[in-house]
Amino acid sequence: MAEDLNITTSTDKTEQYTTLIPQIEALLYGEPDLVANLANVAAALKEQFKWFWVGFYLVKNNELVLGPFQGPVACTRIGLGKGVCGAAWQQAKTLVVPDVEAFPGHIACSSLSQSEIVVPVFHNGEVVAVLDVDSELLDQFDETDAQYLEQIVKLLNFA
Ligand code: SME
Repeated sequence: MAEDLNITTSTDKTEQYTTLIPQIEALLYGEPDLVANLANVAAALKEQFKWFWVGFYLVKNNELVLGPFQGPVACTRIGLGKGVCGAAWQQAKTLVVPDVEAFPGHIACSSLSQSEIVVPVFHNGEVVAVLDVDSELLDQFDETDAQYLEQIVKLLNFA
C-alpha cells in the first residue's frame, strides 16, 4: 500500500485510532524492513493526530538511540532510567505524563513539549524500543492512547 491515508476529521480519539489501525496494518503488511515500518508508523500517527513529535528510540548497546521519527530534531541517546523514555524502558511499562515539568528527570529535547506518552515495544519479553509521543499542550494523553498505542506497537515485527 502506498496511497494517501484516510484521515478522519473526527475529534473522537477512539474513532481516530480505529480508522487508522487497519491502515497501519495495511502499510506493514508484507514488509519485513524494520526501519521502513517504524518510519511509516511514525508518519501515519503524525498525520492523523498532528502531535508535536512522534518517534521511536531503539535499544542498542544498553542505550536508547533515536530511530525513525516525525517532528523537530531530537536528543539522540538516552540512558536506562533517564527521562520519560528511559523510565518507560526500565519499568517496561507505558508512562503517561500530563505535565513534563512535573516529571523528575524529564529530558527536554524541545522546550515546546508539554505532555508526553512513552510506550515500550517488546520482543521475546524484552523491551527493544520505545514509542515516544510529545504534545505542545498539557494533559493530551490518557488510557485510551495507552491502549491503542500498545496495540499499534504490537504490529511491529522486531524479529
Ligand atoms: N522527553 C523525552 C526525550 C525524548 S524527546 O521528547 C523526543 C524524555 O524525557 O525521555
